[in-house]
Amino acid sequence: MPDTRPALLEIVYSSETPVPMGSEEVRALLDHSRRNNAQAGVTGLLCYDRHQFLQIIEGETDVILDLFHTIQNDPRHTDLRILHEGDIKDRAFSDWKMAYEPVPSGLLPTLTRAIHRQPLALDGGGKTSAGRRIFTLFMDEMYGGQVPERETADAV
Ligand SMILES: Cc1cc2nc3c(=O)[nH]c(=O)nc-3n(C[C@H](O)[C@H](O)[C@H](O)COP(=O)(O)O)c2cc1C
Repeated sequence: MPDTRPALLEIVYSSETPVPMGSEEVRALLDHSRRNNAQAGVTGLLCYDRHQFLQIIEGETDVILDLFHTIQNDPRHTDLRILHEGDIKDRAFSDWKMAYEPVPSGLLPTLTRAIHRQPLALDGGGKTSAGRRIFTLFMDEMYGGQVPERETADAV
């Protein structure tokens, strides 16, 4: 049987915030993004350490390209760098309209450097999405590999 599901794309990028966003601003950004993403079938993860964002977005290819274009033009951040862009077979964040993690200062630059150092490893031979691999790397750094009990997706 041919696979008739729409093609899925993931994009992983980092960006900088010249002026750190306050928690109310972050909450408003998340509320708005989650509403939009739920309607558009976009899932992913947003990490923020007051200086840098790292975001993974996944969904139908056209939708993700449109959304990324919008995000790129958002004046709330600058210096966007695509760390990975590629087709995926399945979503890594299927239940999370936009999971959010505030992270300790210094972790995102470390993670970003690690991703830059081993971009090929992110392909995983087509078996594991970059999103899933980055998430695993992230959880290893943050929680020693243990996903916390609480719903990461709802944390602000
Ligand atoms: C770091 C960052 C991540 C964002 N992520 C999303 C997202 O996942 N989904 C989304 O709809 N908007 C996201 N935005 C907001 C968009 O740039 C834009 O403001 C929003 O999509 C406009 O929504 P509207 O068309 O409903 O006005 C993000 C903005 C920033 C700064």
